[in-house]
Amino acid sequence: MKRIGVLTGGGDCPGLNAVIRGVVKSAVSKYNCEVIGFEDGFDGLILPDKTRNLTLWNVRGILPVGGTILGTSNRANPFQYKVTINGKSEVRDVSKDVIKKYQSLGLDALVVIGGDGTLNIAYELFKLGCPTVGVPKTIDNDILATDVTFGFHTAVQTATEALDRLHTTAESHHRVMVVEVMGRYVGWIALETGIGGGADVILIPEIPFDMNKVCEKIESRKKAGSLASIVVVSEGALPMGGKVSVRCASEAGGSAERLGGIGDKVGAEIGKCTGMEVRVTVLGHLQRGGSPCAFDRILSTRFGAAAVELIANKRFGEMVCLRGQEIESVSLTEVARGQKKVPTEEGMVKAAESIGISFGR
Ligand code: F6P
Repeated sequence: MKRIGVLTGGGDCPGLNAVIRGVVKSAVSKYNCEVIGFEDGFDGLILPDKTRNLTLWNVRGILPVGGTILGTSNRANPFQYKVTINGKSEVRDVSKDVIKKYQSLGLDALVVIGGDGTLNIAYELFKLGCPTVGVPKTIDNDILATDVTFGFHTAVQTATEALDRLHTTAESHHRVMVVEVMGRYVGWIALETGIGGGADVILIPEIPFDMNKVCEKIESRKKAGSLASIVVVSEGALPMGGKVSVRCASEAGGSAERLGGIGDKVGAEIGKCTGMEVRVTVLGHLQRGGSPCAFDRILSTRFGAAAVELIANKRFGEMVCLRGQEIESVSLTEVARGQKKVPTEEGMVKAAESIGISFGR
C-alpha cells in the first residue's frame, strides 16, 4: 500500500472530517502511505484539478470541525453525469473515464465515505475494477448492516436541544409546537429526538398516522391541564392511506427526491381540530451542520482507521460497520438491500408508547 485516495460524497454530515483524519493518520503513520483527497465527491474523479495531497499537517485540528474539508456533491454520479454540450444538457455514463483517471494516479485503493447512493456507486466502480472500500455516513441512520452511521447522534443531539427550547416557549404561550425533522424515508431521528426531548407525539414513516388519534392525544393532555404539547414529525411521515410530502422531484443526473412540508400539514390539522394555537418549526440543515458530538468523533475515527485496515488486508468491495461495540466489515452489496427501518412493534417504539407517547395509531 503506497498511495490511496479518499472522497466524501452525498450530503454532508458531522464526522466527515474526523473520518478523513482517521484515514490519513492511520495510512501515513502506520503504513507510511500517501493519501490523495478528491474534492466534491466523485466530481474529484471526473473533473480536472480536483485532487490534493492530504498530509498529517492538512488534517491537523479538523476532528471537531463540521462539514468536509474535501467538499461534497450529491449530483456527481459517474454513471449518470449531467454534462452541457452546445448549450444543451444531457446525462452520460462517464464511469470508464473515472476508472482511467483512478489508474493514472497510481492508487492502490479508494476510500469512499458516503450514504447509500454514494456507497452504491462505490460498489459499481469496484465491479468495474476499481478497488474501493466504504464508510457509512448519514444523519438518517438508514444504512443496513451497521448498527449506526456516524453523524446520526449529532443530529439527534441538535434536534433534542431544539425541543428543549421549544418546550419553554410552548409552555409560556400554551401552544402546540410541531417540529419537522430530517430522516428521509425512515424515522430514526424523529424517534430518538422525540424520546430524548420529551415529545408527546412522534410521527414516523414506518407508522402511517391517523390524524384523529394525534388530535385525541393533544385534547386529552389539554383536559388533564397540559396546555402545551410537542409533536415531532419526520419529514417522511405520511397519513394512513396518504402519500409522503415531496418538495422537489428527483432528476436524472441531479439530486434525489427532496422531502418536506408534512410539518405544516400536521400543524394545520391540529389547529383545526383542537382549536389550539400551533406553531411549526422545520429544523432542516441545522441537523447536518456543526461540530460532531463525542460519540460521532470516536465512531468516525474508528471507521477511518478500519477503512485503512480493509485496504491493507485487500478486502476491497467491503464497508466498515459497527456491530454492538465492535467495528466489523460487510460487503458493499449489503447497502443495496434496502433501508434500515425503525422496528414498529418492539424496542424504542414500544418503550415510547409505554410512557404515553402517541405515534398516531
Ligand atoms: O440524507 C441526509 C439528508 O439530510 C436527509 O435527511 C434530507 O432529506 C436530505 O439529506 C436533504 O438533502 P439536501 O441537502 O439535498 O437538501
